[in-house]
Amino acid sequence: RFNTLEAQPKDPIFALVDLYQKDENPNKINISVGAYRDENGNPYVLPVVKKAKQILLNDPNANHEYNPMTGVDSFCKNAAKVILGKDSPALIEDRCATIQTVAGTGALKIACEFLKKTKNTPIYISNPTWANHKAIIEFSGLEWKEYSYWCQEKRNLNIDALLEDMMNAPDNSTFLLHACAHNPTGTDPTKEEWKKICEVMKKKNHFPFFDCAYQGFASGSLENDAWAIRYFLEQGFEAIVCQSFSKNMGLYSERAGYIHVIVEPSSNASEIARNIRSNLSSITRSILSNAPNFAVRIVDIILSDPQLYNEWIEQMNIMSGRIQKMRKLTRDKLVELKTPGTWDHIQKQIGMFSFTGLTVKQVECLIEKFSIYMTKNGRMSVAGLTEKNVDYFCKSVDWVVRN
Ligand code: LMR
Repeated sequence: RFNTLEAQPKDPIFALVDLYQKDENPNKINISVGAYRDENGNPYVLPVVKKAKQILLNDPNANHEYNPMTGVDSFCKNAAKVILGKDSPALIEDRCATIQTVAGTGALKIACEFLKKTKNTPIYISNPTWANHKAIIEFSGLEWKEYSYWCQEKRNLNIDALLEDMMNAPDNSTFLLHACAHNPTGTDPTKEEWKKICEVMKKKNHFPFFDCAYQGFASGSLENDAWAIRYFLEQGFEAIVCQSFSKNMGLYSERAGYIHVIVEPSSNASEIARNIRSNLSSITRSILSNAPNFAVRIVDIILSDPQLYNEWIEQMNIMSGRIQKMRKLTRDKLVELKTPGTWDHIQKQIGMFSFTGLTVKQVECLIEKFSIYMTKNGRMSVAGLTEKNVDYFCKSVDWVVRN
C-alpha cells in the first residue's frame, strides 16, 4: 500500500543539527539553526521565563482544560499589543482578528489556509527566504513566486529589483515580507526603503503578509522591530501578521505564537474582524483543534506584569547585544587574518543571522574538514559563536576561502 513512497529530503536546517550532535570533534560548532546560545554555547532559558514558570506552578487555578480554538482572548489581546503597539488604532477600534497558533510556523500555516480560502492567488516570497516558507505555502495548495531581494555582489538589499518585481506582479498580489531581521540575509530595508515598498504596494493594491519571528533581535527594541508593520497599517493597509515568541522568549520547543489579521477602518470593521476570527478558528479546529497552552501562559504572565516585562526586555537586550559583539569579533578577526574578500557585512547585518557569502563548496568544506555546521546557502546563526570558538571559526573560514 505504501510501498511506492520515497523518503523525503532531509530538512536543510535540522538535518545539520543531527549531524552536529553525532560529530565527535571537540571543536565542533553549530551555527546552523536560528536558536540563541549563551557565551558558553549553551541554550539560554531566560531568567524571567523561569520566574513565570514558578508563578504558573503556584497558581491554584491553573488546569489543563481545553482552550477555545481562538486561544484565550486576553492572551490574544496582550500579544497583539506587543506587535501592533498598545495604542494601535486597529486594536482600539477592534478591527484586528487574533488567534493563538503553534508558534510562527503554525501562524504561517493558518495564514496560508486562510489566504487559500479568501484569495487563492500565488504568494510572493523573497529570494532568498527561510527554507520552510515554500513548503508551508505548497502544502496549503498555493503557489509561490519569488521577488528579488539580495544582491550577492554588494552583499546588500537590491531595492531597485525588489520594487521592479513588485511593480510587475499582477495587481492585488500577496507579498510575504519579513518584518525584521530577514532570514537568511540579516539585511532589512531601511525605513526609507520600507516607505518605497509601501508606496509601490499601495499603487498595485498588493496585500502585505508579514512574518515576524525575530521581534527584538534586530535592533533590541520591540518598537523598532515592529516599525514596518505599524507603518503599513498607518498607511491604511489591511494585513496579516504572524508573530512568534520562540526566539525573543527563548521558547523554541514550546510553540507560542499568534496570527493577527487587521482590516481597514470602516463602519463594520469590527464585525468583519469577528468573522475573520471565526474563520481562523474553524481552520484551526480542522488542523489541530487548539494550540497548546503552556507556552502562551508563560508569555502572558510576562506580558501582564510590568516588572517581568522590563526584565524580559533587559534579557532580550543581553541576547541581541551578545550577537552584535560576536559579529564585530568575527569581522575583526577575519580582517586581521587578511582573509580574502570583504567582511564588513557580517557586522552590518542584523538579527540572528549573517549571510556570509561563502559558497556551497566552502560550506561543505567547513562541515567536512572543520565540523562547523552551517546551512549550504552560506547562512550562519551568529548566536552559535562564542569568544571561545570564534578564533577557530575564523581560521577555518580563512582556510576554506584560500584553498
Ligand atoms: C531557523 O531558520 O533556523 C529557525 O527559524 C528554525 C527553523 O525552524 O528553521
